[in-house]
Amino acid sequence: MADPQAARDVLANRSGDFRETSDFFHTRRGVFGPRSAQVETGRAARALLRAHLDARRGDIPGLVDGMLAPASAWPDAGNLLIRELLRDALLHPGTAPELTVLLDAVVDRAVLAGARQRHSPLSRAVFRRRTMRVLAREIRRRRLADTEAGAGAGVAGSAPRDLLDVTIRSGGPAAQPAELAEVYLSFLFATVGSIGFVLGWCVYLVGTHPGTEGTAAGFTVREAMRLWPVAWMFARTPVREHELRGVSVAPGDEVDVCSYLVHRHPDHWERPDEFVPERWAVPRHDPAFIPFGHGVHTCAGATVTVSLLEDLVRAIAQDRTLSVFPSGEAPLPGPALAPPRFTVELGGGPGSDSDPVGRG
Ligand code: HEM
Repeated sequence: MADPQAARDVLANRSGDFRETSDFFHTRRGVFGPRSAQVETGRAARALLRAHLDARRGDIPGLVDGMLAPASAWPDAGNLLIRELLRDALLHPGTAPELTVLLDAVVDRAVLAGARQRHSPLSRAVFRRRTMRVLAREIRRRRLADTEAGAGAGVAGSAPRDLLDVTIRSGGPAAQPAELAEVYLSFLFATVGSIGFVLGWCVYLVGTHPGTEGTAAGFTVREAMRLWPVAWMFARTPVREHELRGVSVAPGDEVDVCSYLVHRHPDHWERPDEFVPERWAVPRHDPAFIPFGHGVHTCAGATVTVSLLEDLVRAIAQDRTLSVFPSGEAPLPGPALAPPRFTVELGGGPGSDSDPVGRG
């Protein structure tokens, strides 16, 4: 679906023509649920991330200096920066080192752009089995510890320490460890993967469009998400035969909403294929802008994500001098749409008088 209104109709699913779930909660074992557990998972994750980022906002300039200067290779650098910034939110500091090492390996083998192509299907299957086994073991261990600790007061009294606690507690006792592990991995992809890629697009677009580095970070983030939405395709499954804009669809079909096409619809956007961050200077709620989905399944982390990205864009593209050297030809499409490969040189910092060179 490329038509904005049709896309929203499919995602809103008011007539119940599609299976009611977002991609986020779609697991190999079916839909994670009940819906109340989904909603609570999203709410608790958002609260945890917001508290974590409020506490760590001051670390951003140091992380940018330490990880990106003087030069860095993107888009991986963006993912690894988010991994570092969210390290304790993904797994609290007291977690067994085995698990922390495993999570780094998952990032390396499954989250970074092009990672999947670097390993054979067999190697990926073996690694996935191991990941699920270790995560499921940790989930059982934490559940037991929660039960013991909560015999009197109940675990509801203690705040979740990380996104794995959030997933376990919001899922409730009926959830299988394997499905909880999958939902937890969805959080890893949403944070280290998606946020990292959007950051990559922002840096790439500012660096290749001289004169845009002074643009308000909020405009840059929105325009990058419009032009290159990392969540570029949402799949929906019809539960009954029906007509969709003149086409008959039935159970067994898959209807794909393509935000990339919606966001470039010429009836909604002037110069739809160009990077024009200033277009956001006029506040707009365009139906042809769905980077976080639409309807009841709209992304639970949208607000916290945008505010984090704005902080990062300010720290990288505005407080420093930025030079971008593209090395890859095309965007790297996967489940998420990653930018092409490029190198960034970061100069100076606040107060420096060095000039950027080599803008692509
Ligand atoms: C740039 C980063 C992100 C992008 C582009 C993004 C995009 C999306 C999109 C498009 C959906 C709807 C999918 C569908 O309808 O099939 C969604 C759902 C969701 N996202 Fe995000 N997301 C991002 C980051 C996050 C973060 C940081 C969190 C953590 C709280 C998060 C949590 C969720 C949840 C829980 C859902 C499912 C909502 C529901 O079904 O009720 N996302 N996201």
